[in-house]
Amino acid sequence: MLCAYAQSQDPADPLAGLVVGELPDPGAPYPDWVPVQVRAAALNHHDLWSLRGVGLPVDRLPMILGTDAAGVLDDGTEVIVHSVIPSRDWHGDETLDPRRTLLSELHPGTLAERVWVPAGNVVPKAPELTWTEAACLPTAYLTAYRLLFDAAALRPGGTVLIQGAGGGVASAATVLARAAGLRVWVTSRSAAKRDRARELGAHEAFEPGARLPDQVDAVVETVGEATWSHSLRALRPGGTVAVAGATSGAMPPADLNRVFFRSLRVVGTTMGTREQLVALQQMLVATGVRPVVDDVVRLADVGPALGRMASGDVVGKLVVDLAAA
Ligand SMILES: NC(=O)c1ccc[n+]([C@@H]2O[C@H](COP(=O)([O-])OP(=O)(O)OC[C@H]3O[C@@H](n4cnc5c(N)ncnc54)[C@H](OP(=O)(O)O)[C@@H]3O)[C@@H](O)[C@H]2O)c1
Repeated sequence: MLCAYAQSQDPADPLAGLVVGELPDPGAPYPDWVPVQVRAAALNHHDLWSLRGVGLPVDRLPMILGTDAAGVLDDGTEVIVHSVIPSRDWHGDETLDPRRTLLSELHPGTLAERVWVPAGNVVPKAPELTWTEAACLPTAYLTAYRLLFDAAALRPGGTVLIQGAGGGVASAATVLARAAGLRVWVTSRSAAKRDRARELGAHEAFEPGARLPDQVDAVVETVGEATWSHSLRALRPGGTVAVAGATSGAMPPADLNRVFFRSLRVVGTTMGTREQLVALQQMLVATGVRPVVDDVVRLADVGPALGRMASGDVVGKLVVDLAAA
């Protein structure tokens, strides 16, 4: 079947190991797994990390990339794939299973005509969402939902700072936070992206590291080293930095004096539960908010699209239309 896969890995040149071509259908590793005919699949920074050799051991190559998909079961049911695969005997929050994996880490991913997942890892797709919109939910939007409403435990009326506004997770957090009645402040390196963030619902957009008008209740942090110290300085005493990524580097100065003296909370999180994916979709249906899509491309054009993501030249999600020739 046609798919986009990692053939090799290179930290400096991730796209060198990407192939769009034919691989055999992997089939079901267990009897209770089901095939999903993929209609749309969104790209994520996770795909670049896999091609750089982060989180994907070389002995698992070739590996089909992709952690997001919306598609159709054999009986015609339209579904969204939940990409967090727990171990078979796990109960409860799937993200807390120490042996959980994301699609494309152990099992083949979603950038393919067909993906196999445990029967419990699909959620009925709401008819209100297009295939493109639905494909954005399982990774960036689910992560943003959990960052805001679980890790940071934000409530309507609170103030959130979202770092790196152009990113898939950050733009998701911007529209979800606005819809939830929060005061939304963002930063971005680019003036054009700051303007776009205001259009998307940010109340104000600042340059990275800018002095803010007030202290914030929480920070959504996926940028890492480039913004970490600003994130800690932006918080009110007792505030929370909710962190799900470190695109610019994962080893910033910890600034422990600030953390304990101001009683800050640093909460890490990855993806979200199936239950949260259901709630996220319900939130989109109820509010009318829709994912921010930068572009829709064909499977053959995954390479150039990932190149745009690597260069930071994106606002929102890049989505692959599997029905397009
Ligand atoms: N833990 C999880 O479950 C989870 C889920 C999804 C993603 N992530 C991680 O979160 C991070 C963001 O993912 P994404 O898919 O949203 O990626 P993305 O769409 O490529 O966004 C990355 C953003 O980082 C911002 N950034 C600011 N300063 C930067 C710098 N110095 N170098 C590089 N980027 C900088 C950019 O925003 P501006 O250009 O606007 O400044 C850029 O748009 C990735 O590291 C990803 O692996 C984790």
